[in-house]
Amino acid sequence: MSASDNIPAKTFYLETFGCQMNVHDSEKVIGTLLHEGYIQVEEVEQAGLILYNTCSIRDKAEQKVFHRLADYKKLQKQGKRFGVLGCVAQQEGEKIFERAPYVSLVAGSASYRNLPHMLAKLEAGEQRITGLDDRNTDETFDTEFTARSNPYRGYITIIEGCDKFCAYCVVPYTRGKERSRTSDSVMAEAQRMADEGYTDIQLLGQNVNSYRDPSGKKSFAALLAAVGEVAGIRRVRFTTSHPRDFTKDIVDAIDAVPALCDHVHLPVQSGSNNVLKAMLREYTREEYLTKVGWVKAAKRDISMTTDMIVGFPGESEADFEESISLCREAGFDAVFAFKYSPRPNTPAINLADSIEEDEKSKRLAILMDRQRQIQAETYQRHLGQTLAAMVEGRNEARGQLVGRSSQNKTVNFSSRALIQPATGSYVNVLITKVTPNSLVGEMIA
Ligand code: 5AD
Ligand code: SF4
Repeated sequence: MSASDNIPAKTFYLETFGCQMNVHDSEKVIGTLLHEGYIQVEEVEQAGLILYNTCSIRDKAEQKVFHRLADYKKLQKQGKRFGVLGCVAQQEGEKIFERAPYVSLVAGSASYRNLPHMLAKLEAGEQRITGLDDRNTDETFDTEFTARSNPYRGYITIIEGCDKFCAYCVVPYTRGKERSRTSDSVMAEAQRMADEGYTDIQLLGQNVNSYRDPSGKKSFAALLAAVGEVAGIRRVRFTTSHPRDFTKDIVDAIDAVPALCDHVHLPVQSGSNNVLKAMLREYTREEYLTKVGWVKAAKRDISMTTDMIVGFPGESEADFEESISLCREAGFDAVFAFKYSPRPNTPAINLADSIEEDEKSKRLAILMDRQRQIQAETYQRHLGQTLAAMVEGRNEARGQLVGRSSQNKTVNFSSRALIQPATGSYVNVLITKVTPNSLVGEMIA
């Protein structure tokens, strides 16, 4: 029963890298482990089982995992066991056992439904346990044991995997093919969360708007609207959307259902048609901007944010300039920009990684600088507005409260009320100042 003299084997430590999908997968993994009688601990030293839920979207993310494993190698002598979960696990498979022989468990996300079985093998002393599904699995990881870390705001996965095969992206290989949950099971989970006191739900999927209800009852927009109409739910977000499958009925749903948030994250990746074509994105700059136009024409002020990759193979100066001009034309409220990183198995790995690292860094810095100017302008529209903010906590350094607007913007605010608003509550804030990344204001009654 003992991993070492005084550490029970059924204690675990879990660290998560990567996107919201991974964060939410970890909540499900934690819930499953707790249900199996494990106890979660906050420090690696206290754990019998150390798990890393890994990301391989870019090389840096992947390297972090191996550095972490190397850091903790010495702990193996204390009888601890190690498990690698998530995208690096699925991508590297059993090669992880060669690189880090002290690892006992390697499991990709499509195999988590078998976790109890894998844990039983681990407890029986087996050394090398793998959960590696091929791309064609139909399984999704639905569990009633999800241990959500926030009591007000929570994720629901509605679609797993990806069938888009963009030239740079590992996700179709690490997370398998696209498979959606039935709308009934999503609605049941949303209702359960509302009953438990959640008011803010984020629907998740690698391409969330490619959702296809296996029961044929609801389109993505209809599901979004239905979750927004669950009594008690005040905010519904969705991430991440693929422009090709972004349909106008999504904008219509946001206009029609007050609980749907004023925010669309629509990763464009590049503003150049040459690069979009090489990336196999299946849309043009003009088509993307048409969809931006739908969002801008909505009755509500819907905030738009995006992802960009700089330095994709063959990206010329002129192509890069088109990414900048697209940011200006779309007037994004935030851009998450990344240097292109060649990834194993992807089509682009066969293209020469032609842009020097220095040049990628230069383009990234220019893009971020231009976007900062754009945001400084777009955020101005909030000056003098009264916005609802969900309280997230206090910023002690600023002596202010921190909240989030429907548009997903950080709102730092002061309150003269005698009783400070509780975390998870909604308050109205008069915006008196804007910075490129946040809004500042005063709570009003
Ligand atoms: N290199 C750089 N950025 C990437 N992304 C995905 N794959 C790569 C890659 N190989 C970025 C995309 C995506 C975001 C989650 O990560 O912009 O939208
Ligand atoms: Fe990283 Fe993509 Fe895996 Fe998320 S799905 S953890 S972003 S590789």
